[in-house]
Amino acid sequence: MQDYRHPAEPFRIKSIESIRLLPRKEREKILKEARYNIFKVKAEDIYIDLLTDSGTGAMSTDQWAALMKGDESYAGARSFYRFEKTIKEITGKKFIIPVHQGRVAENVFFSTVLKQGDYVPNNTHFDTTRANTQHKGGIPVDIPCPEASTEDEVPFKGNIDTQRLISFIEEKGPENIPVVFMTVTNNSSGGLPVSMANIRETADICRKHGILFFFDCARFAENAYFIKQSEPGYQDKTIKEIAQEMFSHVDGALMSAKKDGLANMGGFVAVSDEELARKIIELLIVIEGFPTYGGMSGRDIEAVAAGLQEALSEDYLAYRVGQIGYFGRIIEQAGAPIIKPTGGHAIFIDAGKYLPHIPAHQFPGQALTIELYREGGIRVVEIGSLMFGGYDPNTGEKLNAIKELVRLAVPRRVYTASHLDYVADAIARITARKDRLRGFKITRQAALLRHFTIELEQLKSEEVEVG
Ligand code: F0G
Repeated sequence: MQDYRHPAEPFRIKSIESIRLLPRKEREKILKEARYNIFKVKAEDIYIDLLTDSGTGAMSTDQWAALMKGDESYAGARSFYRFEKTIKEITGKKFIIPVHQGRVAENVFFSTVLKQGDYVPNNTHFDTTRANTQHKGGIPVDIPCPEASTEDEVPFKGNIDTQRLISFIEEKGPENIPVVFMTVTNNSSGGLPVSMANIRETADICRKHGILFFFDCARFAENAYFIKQSEPGYQDKTIKEIAQEMFSHVDGALMSAKKDGLANMGGFVAVSDEELARKIIELLIVIEGFPTYGGMSGRDIEAVAAGLQEALSEDYLAYRVGQIGYFGRIIEQAGAPIIKPTGGHAIFIDAGKYLPHIPAHQFPGQALTIELYREGGIRVVEIGSLMFGGYDPNTGEKLNAIKELVRLAVPRRVYTASHLDYVADAIARITARKDRLRGFKITRQAALLRHFTIELEQLKSEEVEVG
């Protein structure tokens, strides 16, 4: 019997997009011109783009067909009602408010519920969620479960630490905590899932203290698949049933549909409370659009409605999560330590461990990120001191990242095993000379979300400190 690497793609490829690898000399020049900020490199100068799984997926024939059905009416478009029905069925929430992407959901939500100095606990904030909380005067607090910082290969390392959540609520007072968030899957701590038991327990804690409980649910279908795989009692349920149960525990959810919506653009806020929905909609009309399109075209809305259904397919999720597991195994074989177990959308290399000679303030994750482009025209993203360091814009306090990670996010339905093999081969070549990699220093930066626009210089050998 053949040893299958991961369940084969449950689709065939009907349309292709050419990619090319530039010569090494050109890649070096491009890096210099981009001031070693990988966000500034043109997409056509990238061979394999693992910057994000957000909005980069391939649509199905059904989704492309649905685009033609897009109703572009300003108010009351047919496409909106299809979108609303699909999301109501999955989330069970009464009010579905469309937005063009996740961070707008964050903006309208936090603008509505936060007052200056409020705390927002989360298993781990994603960068835009953190920034939007801070932008509205809130204080984001990460409360990951204790296993998240261990090497243990336990299944639900995305969980929130419920004991610490209780002590935090008691210490700060529930009146200063309008909402508790749970990010499913937990992107910033490895794309790892949250268990139904942890969701249920967190819901109980929030209810007891009169605090709202919300999901940041960009990858809820991948999370539901992990529950089906690893949590007792869920093996015979469908992904949709599991997702419905997950949402039954929260008061609402914010979604970037660019992930498990299998769409290139889109998002929503789902809430049950009418008063809250009304306030959000009032702001939405000012900054985003009328509540039956919320910044999206009718065709985008159709693509999300169709994509959300497809993301609940178990065949698709087995391939998707299997592919990520395969990618993790070959990266480890190439000599790079990764966060384990592997999650649903990306592999996270522990660059702090891989490059122990580069201290955090010289950005080991960025050193690996830049080297992957130099070596193979591969684009990945640093998730460490470059992304999460700097200063808190409200308190001026110096911030530190918990880990120095590099994320290799896999777009949905886009790359095959050969593409992933190519990336692992490039890592193996880097591993052979990794002790000679040098860190970076910042030459220009912004206060919020600095990684998008930051400018850097690679350290010269005489500037290198030993980590
Ligand atoms: N929440 C999570 C958990 C996310 O991963 C993202 C985006 C957002 C919210 C914001 O959504 O981009 O539609 O405004 N994550 C992307 C990523 C950008 O690369 O992980 P958005």
